[in-house]
Amino acid sequence: MDNDKIIVFDTTLRDGEQSPGASLDVADKVTIAKQLARLNVDVIEAGFPVSSKAQFDATKIISTEVKGPIIAGLARCIEGDIDAAAEALKKAERPRIHTFVATSKIHLEKKFRKSEEEILEMAVAGVKRAKSYFDDIEFSPEDSARTGKDFLFRIIEAAINAGATTINIPDTVGYSNPDEFGSLIKEIFNKVPNIDRAILSVHCHNDLGLAVANTLSAVINGAQQVEVTINGVGERAGNASLEEVVMALKTRHNFYGKCIGINTREIVPTSRLVSNLMGMPVQPNKAIVGANAFAHEAGIHQDAVLKDASTYEIMTPEEVGLESNRIILGRHSGRHGLQQRLAELGYKLGKEEINRIYERFNEIADKKKEVFDEDLIALVGDETADYSEAYELEYFHILSGNKTVPTATVGLRRGDRSFQEAAVGDGPVDAACKAVDKITGLSVALADYSLRGVTGGKNAVGEVVVRITDNGQKYLGRGASTDVIEASIRAYLHAVNRLISAKEKQLQSKVEKAQL
Ligand code: KIV
Ligand code: ZN
Repeated sequence: MDNDKIIVFDTTLRDGEQSPGASLDVADKVTIAKQLARLNVDVIEAGFPVSSKAQFDATKIISTEVKGPIIAGLARCIEGDIDAAAEALKKAERPRIHTFVATSKIHLEKKFRKSEEEILEMAVAGVKRAKSYFDDIEFSPEDSARTGKDFLFRIIEAAINAGATTINIPDTVGYSNPDEFGSLIKEIFNKVPNIDRAILSVHCHNDLGLAVANTLSAVINGAQQVEVTINGVGERAGNASLEEVVMALKTRHNFYGKCIGINTREIVPTSRLVSNLMGMPVQPNKAIVGANAFAHEAGIHQDAVLKDASTYEIMTPEEVGLESNRIILGRHSGRHGLQQRLAELGYKLGKEEINRIYERFNEIADKKKEVFDEDLIALVGDETADYSEAYELEYFHILSGNKTVPTATVGLRRGDRSFQEAAVGDGPVDAACKAVDKITGLSVALADYSLRGVTGGKNAVGEVVVRITDNGQKYLGRGASTDVIEASIRAYLHAVNRLISAKEKQLQSKVEKAQL
């Protein structure tokens, strides 16, 4: 391998999807995986196939449809996990099984009640089983940063002897700090005799806000692969953010001396896509991809940047794909222009979806003179779905005020049938959701509701993200409109349609099983 190349392993679809509140359906995951391929990541961790049917299906479809990057599937060092990962990955051009077992004393004693020898045996057996399927095997001693070093070195050596080609060192609970983590990486190189037969990778969590710093410290000390997520999403406080690690390596090439294969111009489109599909807004001051990352407020700064941007910018907005983020469609834009812009933003959509979005786009373009990328992304959010028989909003009427009982009348269509119901509620949104419930016959809990103006101005598009729960399962819905009540109804319907589709799929699989 090229000594200067850092392998970028993206785990947005696996660890990132473990973010509280982030739930992606299979179609969303495939959309993101295709965009990750455009970003040119080296490895996409597509999921944890044994953990659910949706994870298995997503890994399988991504393996079949996404070409270029290595596709990895996670598996505990357990036969069933490894077999499921191998099955889901079998169509991948370049499959990788990523198998792991916890190695820290605290996990051995409290989680497993197993001895070090038993864990070592599990690791070796897991790697060997994975190796019986594919050549490319990654092994992670989970909670490495809190694992006793002697045992850590021993298990790494054994995993490599069993066939592991990548060894990943996770700071699972974000406990380490840059000096300590860098030294650990250096020591692994010095103390594990066969380490030259594997790639050394790192995977840092952000509990103390040090994930990126720890990752970069590992790179300084020889790590060859970095495990990262878009926008730093991930379990608890998240993982090291791809855009921060990548842009640090690129901007400070003079310091790190490492190359990356990432197409950095795809960073902002990927960030927006992930934020939108996960329903997780990016904080404005987030490095690289936040709305303010390239905004200069102070007059002195603005003046200097106009004279020469390098006075206050260490990288250019264009480099991270920000150049064409403002408009740029309007009332006179055609379907083709819309489709092309959406493709540039990472959405490859079918004819029917484009037609639906074009209809909504025209409604918005009639109200706003200019339609921005952010507006488009919000529109796509509630007009694409992986179900065919969905309820669609036909019309609504709201009666609301500070001295009246909020009342909503909602008209929906499903296939060629039309429905109408009216309801009262605590507010206009509540009333409208209740009217929808009367039509669908479902009674779901609204667990989360958020509204944000997508672009500035009084005629801005408002985007609503809701999460509904049914039997402990969460469904996310997005809706966008210049009318916030309409955006709310659309978001609610989107989530309800997903719930209905999931229930129908469950029913269908029960029927199929019964027929076997
Ligand atoms: O954080 C962690 O330890 C993990 C492993 C499964 C690699 O995500
Ligand atoms: Zn992790």
